[in-house]
Amino acid sequence: MSNSGEAELLHTFKGIPFTTRSSPELLKSLDTFVAREDDLLLVSYPKSGTHWLAGVITKLYNTQVTITSPIEFGDISQLEKLNKLSSKRIIPTHLDYNMLPPNFKNKKCKMIYISRNPKDTAVSMFHYYRDNPNLPTVDSWTAFFDLFLKGNVVCGSWFDHFLSWEKHEDEKNILFLFYEDMKKDLPKVVKEITLFLGLNVSDDDIQDICKKSSFSEMKNNTEKENSDPTHTVCALTSNRKLIFRKGAVGDWKNYFTPKQNIRFQEIFDEKMKLSKM
Ligand code: A3P
Repeated sequence: MSNSGEAELLHTFKGIPFTTRSSPELLKSLDTFVAREDDLLLVSYPKSGTHWLAGVITKLYNTQVTITSPIEFGDISQLEKLNKLSSKRIIPTHLDYNMLPPNFKNKKCKMIYISRNPKDTAVSMFHYYRDNPNLPTVDSWTAFFDLFLKGNVVCGSWFDHFLSWEKHEDEKNILFLFYEDMKKDLPKVVKEITLFLGLNVSDDDIQDICKKSSFSEMKNNTEKENSDPTHTVCALTSNRKLIFRKGAVGDWKNYFTPKQNIRFQEIFDEKMKLSKM
């Protein structure tokens, strides 16, 4: 990663790297953000399937809902915009549990955490770094692999992020989902989401929503809509082509060397020893 790029594009807040698109003033103000009981949070570490989940969820409502930009992106005026929204707010975020505005926790707002095999997440993030001018330059997969393991990437360590949320897995207002389960049986996961959200959606409608949310369908739609910058929940790009790359499970096998795999596994086992994963 080039140092000048890093200095210009990232800053650290409470020990976590953020892009300069998340202003320090906004990050400081999150502690006093006023939540609404019916807010729904879509939580993820980057590249875990956030857009996919958002695409599914918006199709489940027949009332007006607004997917906002992630709560931690932008300058302080973003929070004002959120306050002014009159419709139900679906708010994406990559925040660690400890940084989440406390009012969401006090009001027991519903939150859906989507997680993905960190090896695939790392590969997906590598491509995102490489193709996105708003992120520092990475010279090679080998260099990115080290940064990822050290948590020296935007949003910090995958392990810390996952563990901070996993501690709250049993809370009734939090639903834990896995990208791999969505790949395996999307209708089953969508059914689970509808039960969690208390939405009445017929099995036929669920099938239809799943068809419209397939990787190819979402990617094709993107190519048609690409000129509309509002069609993304990732404020780091208005280019949706960067989001829908491969949509596969196990792509890490095409990138990890056997040595990297052993190193990753050792760190995974150590960091995750108290995890149920
Ligand atoms: P890849 O880079 O491995 O292809 P996020 O939305 O959190 O940024 O995650 C992006 C990842 O989710 C990308 O992974 C993207 O291809 C994948 N993705 C997006 N929509 C998908 C879908 N409908 N089905 C499967 N994967 C999808």
